[in-house]
Amino acid sequence: MIKVEGLTKRYARKVAVDNISFEVQKGQIVGFLGPNGAGKTTTMRVLTCFLPPTSGTANVAGFDVQDQPMEVKRRIGYLPETPPLYPEMEVHEYLEFVGRIKGVLANDLTRRVNEVAEKCAIADVRKTLIGKLSKGYKQRVGLAQAIIHNPDVLILDEPTAGLDPHQIIETRELIKGLAGEHTIILSTHILPEVEQVCERVIIIAKGKLVATDTVANLTSRLRGAETVAVEVLAADAASVQRSLEQVAGVSRVIAGAHRDEKLHFTVESLEGRHIRPGLAKAVVDAGWQLNELHAVGLSLEEIFLQLTASPDEHKEAAPVEPVAAPAMGSDAQ
Ligand SMILES: Nc1ncnc2c1ncn2[C@@H]1O[C@H](COP(=O)(O)OP(=O)(O)OP(=O)(O)O)[C@@H](O)[C@H]1O
Ligand SMILES: [Mg+2]
Repeated sequence: MIKVEGLTKRYARKVAVDNISFEVQKGQIVGFLGPNGAGKTTTMRVLTCFLPPTSGTANVAGFDVQDQPMEVKRRIGYLPETPPLYPEMEVHEYLEFVGRIKGVLANDLTRRVNEVAEKCAIADVRKTLIGKLSKGYKQRVGLAQAIIHNPDVLILDEPTAGLDPHQIIETRELIKGLAGEHTIILSTHILPEVEQVCERVIIIAKGKLVATDTVANLTSRLRGAETVAVEVLAADAASVQRSLEQVAGVSRVIAGAHRDEKLHFTVESLEGRHIRPGLAKAVVDAGWQLNELHAVGLSLEEIFLQLTASPDEHKEAAPVEPVAAPAMGSDAQ
């Protein structure tokens, strides 16, 4: 549904987006992640035909953004960083206005406005001036204008920025509800948001693509070594620590907060070694009680920091396969 190949965008001498390629399949929600200034907004502006690429191509819903921008625009809904709202218009007036511009047929307009107002939970403010709405409601109106013409593709630039926690949850639910019917790219700084809402992640840093994969794959790919949390019921912390250290494949054991006889340890494995069965056996064989044993996942936040670290730090990070070709499914549209 979206195919970007070798996309580069230069502002004067500044390279904002540097030769990135990725694909998004129909019906997917993809999170576009990157630190400030990474090039997220610039990429989205190219995809929505607001900016021409310096080189490379972008194809959206089957049309090239440079060759057939009108066809692309007809098929996309765009929520920019600042929603394009007119404060002096009432909500329903504004949505009718946008609907007409985007080619919604006159006899379909009222039905469509009602539909998106319902979907975006703004039906109760239909007659309110946009200028008088709270930020959260403005954002919902921004989403409503993006979907008024029922586009195939939605491009949302930080749709939850500046919202309160309730509004964030509502907006996320709303976006999740739009997937399937629509293909969605959303940019965000909120990492748990990506885990909660998106199936795939595209991470860029300083204009370069650093990863594109599912959240689950990214986590496991980066986790070369395993970290395991262990809770043991025993009297002698030092001897428990010694036995854990002797388990094959263990690289180090860090003692945590011990409470009475409940002893906590964090155990790290050598690269590619599975140490959980060995740890369990060591505890049980010594006659101690094993209260808990679980793998500690690498959070998306840790992954993000590793991937977007400066080049020198990056070398020390867990091995990441370079993103030569987009690791996407084969049912490209
Ligand atoms: N109109 C412009 N003229 C010159 N440079 C620009 C322009 N717009 C963006 N840039 C530069 O391009 C780079 C990428 O900016 P962009 O807005 O795409 O980043 P972003 O990932 O959206 O960041 P943020 O998370 O802060 O929104 C930045 O270094 C920025 O300063
Ligand atoms: Mg931006």
